[in-house]
Amino acid sequence: MSRQFRAIEISKTDKGQKLDFVTLNETNLMPGDVTVAVEHSTVNYKDGLAVTGKAPIIRQFPLIPGVDFAGTVVESSHRLIKAGDKVVLNGWGVGESHHGGYAGLARVKGDWLVPVPDNMTTAETMAIGTAGYTAMLCVVALERQGVRPEDGDILVTGAAGGVGSIAIAILAKLGYRVTASTGRPEEEAFLRGLGASEIIDRKELSGPVKPLAKTRWAGAPEVPTFAEGGVSDLELLFWHGLWAPKNTPKPIVAKINDAVAKAFDDDWVKKRFGELGHTIPPPGQRTPQALYDHHKAEIDKWWPIMKAAGIKPKGS
Ligand SMILES: NC(=O)c1ccc[n+]([C@@H]2O[C@H](COP(=O)([O-])OP(=O)(O)OC[C@H]3O[C@@H](n4cnc5c(N)ncnc54)[C@H](OP(=O)(O)O)[C@@H]3O)[C@@H](O)[C@H]2O)c1
Repeated sequence: MSRQFRAIEISKTDKGQKLDFVTLNETNLMPGDVTVAVEHSTVNYKDGLAVTGKAPIIRQFPLIPGVDFAGTVVESSHRLIKAGDKVVLNGWGVGESHHGGYAGLARVKGDWLVPVPDNMTTAETMAIGTAGYTAMLCVVALERQGVRPEDGDILVTGAAGGVGSIAIAILAKLGYRVTASTGRPEEEAFLRGLGASEIIDRKELSGPVKPLAKTRWAGAPEVPTFAEGGVSDLELLFWHGLWAPKNTPKPIVAKINDAVAKAFDDDWVKKRFGELGHTIPPPGQRTPQALYDHHKAEIDKWWPIMKAAGIKPKGS
């Protein structure tokens, strides 16, 4: 028997998008190996944009919005998930290109779901929400980079915001000393209550960049991208290469290059580079000539900018 459920559905019309409360049944759901009776969802910023149509969040119409949800599994053919399990979902294009959480039922890939821990309710997972989940991912990313509490303070920008405030609470609980950067000094008590040890005005972080300044923080988990900061056409990539002394015989260079190129095909190396956020060059670009060309292109790109900005190596 096909279950019926209520949902918010956004469709496209000639005049823009339209939102309706509708009754659907399971056949209207998209493919997936797990069906969940949704109990809670949040109103994320993205949901606000999707529902009001203020930004093109929805990429397929008609669509049920809701970028996250928590609920109880009613049907599953996933090997690790069974009916009755409590699960939570954040992201994965749900509420953007796959039917989302603003519905009584959701059908998704089981691999997108996370089990709700026994000591938490589905309501609590959604109180943490996608903002809290994002904050946790930021902290996990710092830990994966090897940042430990004894390494020094952690800077949290946008401290009084959704992601920032939860990041402070998590970091403080894990024993990190946290500096909170905010544009709202009146939130000092709130930020200290979350565990921040120091509060700085966000103005301290604006102004001219000081190359080779003293290291002040061991990590900064959610600094905005250049594009978010209003500089849209700047691509600044960190890259690494391997150099040999000048006049190293070509066969030796070829031998070393060959060994490094082969290492990039090793599964562990690929996984570790992925964890560090690095991209491995495709096989055709793992050559000394490709590295030379890239290096030259970088010098051609940055030298005029450095000259125009008067940036000089320290001490020169
Ligand atoms: N929420 C999510 O689910 C989610 C998921 C993935 C990624 N993100 C990203 O994470 C970031 C923070 O999201 P959020 O949900 O925490 O947003 P939010 O609640 O609106 O918080 C953003 C904070 O940024 C600070 N801020 C505002 N205007 C600023 C400016 N002009 N310069 C510097 N700082 C400014 C403010 O901090 P103070 O109040 O302390 O001044 C504000 O509270 C965003 O880039 C967002 O796209 C969010």
